[in-house]
Parts: sequence; C-alpha cells; structure tokens
Amino acid sequence: MISVSAVMVLMLALTAEATVGDSSQLDFCSETNECFLFDLICKTDDYEVRHYKSVKWVSTNETSFLMEFAAMKTFRRLYNYIQGANEKGKKIEMTAPVVMRIPDKGFLQTGEYRMSFLLPAEYQADPPKPIDNEDKVYIYETKDMNVYVRSYGGWLTTISDGSAAKSLSSALDSAGAKYKKGGHDAAGYNSPMTLFQRHNEVWFEADGELPCTGLD
Ligand SMILES: *[C@@H]1O[C@H](CO)[C@@H](O)[C@H](O)[C@H]1NC(C)=O
Repeated sequence: MISVSAVMVLMLALTAEATVGDSSQLDFCSETNECFLFDLICKTDDYEVRHYKSVKWVSTNETSFLMEFAAMKTFRRLYNYIQGANEKGKKIEMTAPVVMRIPDKGFLQTGEYRMSFLLPAEYQADPPKPIDNEDKVYIYETKDMNVYVRSYGGWLTTISDGSAAKSLSSALDSAGAKYKKGGHDAAGYNSPMTLFQRHNEVWFEADGELPCTGLD
C-alpha cells in the first residue's frame, strides 16, 4: 500500500517542478488558483529578467486597429472554450496571466493580435480540443524562454501598454540587451472587476545573452 505521506512527497515534488502552479508563490497573482511560474534571473530598477519553461495555452487571433476591439472578440472565444466548448465538455478554471500579443504597427494601421489563456496544470499534457470556432481557437505552445519584464499598475490599455513598452525597450536598448522584434506581450493578472492593486506587465522575449552581469 502506498502511504499518504509518500503521495504527498510526490505531489510536492511535482509542484516544485511545475511551471503552471500554485498562485500563492507570486504575490501579484492573487485572483486565480494557478499562475505561470518562473525563475527570476536578475533585476534592475527598470526591469526583471525571468526564465519561463515551455507551456501550453489556448489562443485565438484577431486583426484589428486597436487592442481593445481585438480583446473583446478574443476574450469571448477563449471564455467560451473554458466554459465547456471543448471536446471533453470540461469547465476549465481561469489562470493568470492572460497574455495579449501586441504587434508593432502604426496607430492607424491594422495588426494581428493574439490572446492566450494559460491552461491549468491538469490540462497541460493533453489539452481538450476546441469544438466551437475550431478554425479560430487553437492550442499554442510557448517554448522555454527568457523574458524582460516591466510591471505597472492600473488598467491595461493601448496607451498604458504602449508607454510601458516604450520605457522597457529604451531601458533594454541602453543596456545593450537584445530582444525579439516585431511585437511584445502584454500580461494582465486581474479581472476587470478588480479596482485596486491591479498588476500588468509588458514582456519582450530575450534574444541571446542576458545583460545581468553585476546584478542580483
Ligand atoms: C496569430 O498571431 C500571431 C502574431 O500575433 C502570429 O505569429 C501567428 O502566426 C498567428 N496564428 C494564427 C494561427 O493565425
């Protein structure tokens, strides 16, 4: 017979390895049970460098002028999937962050946005296929990556995201840090109902060597 304590040790070992895990490990991730966990590599006054392992998301794209318009449509599609529009008919818990891929584009141009919900740990290995909008909703796997992150409070809008992205890219440029071009990610950790202590982030994926020398 397997003892209860052996099972618990095994579960703790799995939790420690998990990249989608217990939200109590991140103080800014407080509204969901599970969050996207990372290793902090180093930080400056302007940004953090994080390492994230490969994970799976459910994602959908929308072409639009404005993130806010794309967000309404994409959120509805993904919410439908987690509410049960998947081949197993499962109701899937919300996790954090919700990530929006923001294309680099001029203000009056259209661009392709991608919204992603992180799949909870129990669905990572075998995510249920979408059944509605199956041409638009898809399972997406991000690779193991290093990310430059800048955090800010308040609401995630085109303007607040654009300003945080600009601060982050200037800080990275002056530090000589290399990052992938073409767009960035906006990560939101709160429901729209939450009014205070909101937490948002802008992410640029690192490309090559990390300028952490001399930093903690
Ligand atoms: C979704 O949009 C991203 C860019 O935001 C693009 O790289 C990707 O190819 C698109 N995927 C699909 C399935 O259209």
